[in-house]
Amino acid sequence: MLESINLEKGLIALFVVVVSAIFVSKLKSKKLKLPPGPFALPIFGDWLQVGDDLNHRNLTDLAKKYGEIFLLKMGQRNLVVVSSPEYAKEVLHTQGVEFGSRTRNVVFDIFTGKGQDMVFTVYGEHWRKMRRIMTVPFFTNKVVQQYRFAWEDEISRAVEDVKNRPEASTTGIVIRRRLQLMMYNIMYRMMFDRRFESEEDPLFLKLKALNGERSRLAQSFEYNYGDFIPILRPFLRGYLKICKEVKEMRLSLFKDYFINERKKLASTKGSSSLGEKCAIDHILDALDKGEINEDNVLYIVENINVAAIETTLWSMEWGLAEIVNHPDIQQKIRKELDTVLGPGVEITEPDTTRLPYLQAVVKETLRLHMAIPLLVPHMNLNQAKLGGYDIPAESKILVNAWWLANNPEWWNKPEEFIPERFLEDEQKIEANGNDFRFLPFGVGRRSCPGIILALPILALSLGRLVQNFDLSPPPGHSKVDVSEKGGQFSLHILNHSVVVAKPRV
Ligand code: HEM
Repeated sequence: MLESINLEKGLIALFVVVVSAIFVSKLKSKKLKLPPGPFALPIFGDWLQVGDDLNHRNLTDLAKKYGEIFLLKMGQRNLVVVSSPEYAKEVLHTQGVEFGSRTRNVVFDIFTGKGQDMVFTVYGEHWRKMRRIMTVPFFTNKVVQQYRFAWEDEISRAVEDVKNRPEASTTGIVIRRRLQLMMYNIMYRMMFDRRFESEEDPLFLKLKALNGERSRLAQSFEYNYGDFIPILRPFLRGYLKICKEVKEMRLSLFKDYFINERKKLASTKGSSSLGEKCAIDHILDALDKGEINEDNVLYIVENINVAAIETTLWSMEWGLAEIVNHPDIQQKIRKELDTVLGPGVEITEPDTTRLPYLQAVVKETLRLHMAIPLLVPHMNLNQAKLGGYDIPAESKILVNAWWLANNPEWWNKPEEFIPERFLEDEQKIEANGNDFRFLPFGVGRRSCPGIILALPILALSLGRLVQNFDLSPPPGHSKVDVSEKGGQFSLHILNHSVVVAKPRV
C-alpha cells in the first residue's frame, strides 16, 4: 500500500517536472530565434531521436533535412551544426573570437585538468599564453629546419626495417605498425631528444597503450548521456574512474620517464652541453620564468601526444591505403619524383614544395579521409547571432568540415580519390584554409598550428615509401579495405591494412 502511494507521488512529481520543463522551454524559445532542428522533448531533447553517434555522416544526413545550420538539443546541451562554407567562415573567421572557445565535458575535464592545456581550453588569456609558449618549440619554420634531418632519418630507418622483413614482399605486413613507431620517434625527438629503438621497446609499448586508451575513452560515444543529462551522471562513475586512472598513469609516465629525465640530464651535464634545445627545454624555460606551472607542462606534453601523433599517423595510413588501391596514382607520384629529383635520389624536406602531384595526393587524402572531420568542437561563451539565429551561450558548435570537402554541389565525384582535382583549379586550393570548402586543419584563431609539421612529414613519408617499394594489396585481394570508424571528432581507418611492399631495385 505504502509503496503504491510512493509510486503515485513519484509519478505526479515527474509529471510536474515534465510540464514545467515544457513550459519553461516554450517561454525561453519564444524569446530566442533558435536555428531549426528536430522537435525537442522535455529533459531528453533530441537525444532519443538522433542517438549518441553524432558522426560526420549522420550530421550530414541531418543537414540535408534541417539545413546548413541546425540545432540539436541533447538533454541540457545545445549543439549547433554548420555545414556550409559561408557559416564556417562566420564561425571560424568573422566571429572567430565569439566562437573561439571549446566546450568542456566530464571526460575531457579529467584528461585536461579542466582546461589547463591548450587544445581544449576556452578562448582567453590562458589559451593565448599556452599557444605562444608552444609556438617557438613546435610551430615555426626554424623548428622544421632543425628537425628535418631527424624526420628523414626516422623515415629511412622505417624503410630499411620494412625491407628487412622478408614477408613484406610476399604475403605483406601491416606497415602502419612501423609507421607508428616512426611517428612517435619523430615527435619524441622533437619533444625530448629521445627515440625508441624498436616496436618492442617496453616504454614505447606502455606509452602507446596508454595513449590508445586515452583516445578510446575520450572519443567514445558511450559517456554522452551523462554529459547531456547531468542527473544521470552517477551512472558514469565507473567510466570516469577508469578515465582518472588512465590520466594519472599517463601523466606520471610523461613526468617520470621524460620530463624529469631531461631535467636531470640538464642539471648533471649542464644545459649548454646538451646541444640545440629540444621542445621541453623551451617549455621548462617558461616554467622557470613562472609563466606556466608544472601541470601546464604536463598538459602540453599530453596535447602533443594526442593532437600530433595520431592525427598525422591516421592521415598517413589513409594515404598509403589509397596509393595501394590506385596503382596509376602510385606510378604518377613515382614519375614526378624521378623527373623532378632524378632517379634514385631520395626525397628530402625542401623537395616537398616542388612536387605538386605528391602534394595533391596529400591534400586529396586529407579531403576524403579527414582525420578530424568536425574540427575540435568550438563554443560561444556568450549568447551570439549566427545567420540571423540566436545561439544560446555555451553551445557546442560543430563545423562539418568533412561535408564541406565532400559535398557534390562543389566537388566533382567527391567519393572518389582523384588528386588531379587539386591541380585543375585556377585558384589553387591549399590545406591552410584559403578556401572554406577545404578545412582539414580548420582556419583562424583555433586552427591547427601543427600544419607546418604535418604536411611535410606526410609528403616525405608517402614519397619515400613510393620511391622504395612497389606497394600493393595482399595476394588474393584487389584492394585494401578503406572503411572508416568515427569517434566524437576523430576519423580513422577501421582495419589496419596488410600491404605488400616489394623493394624496388
Ligand atoms: C594530419 C595531421 C593533423 C590534422 C588533420 C590536424 C587537424 C587539426 C584540427 C582540425 C584542429 C582543430 C581546428 C579547429 O578547431 O578549428 C587541430 C587543432 C590542433 N592541432 Fe592539429 N592536426 C594535425 C596535426 C597536428 C600536429 C602535428 C600538431 C602538433 C605538433 C597539432 C597540434 C594541434 C593543436 C595544438 C591544436 C589546437 C589548437 C587550438 O585549439 O588553438 N596538430 N588540428
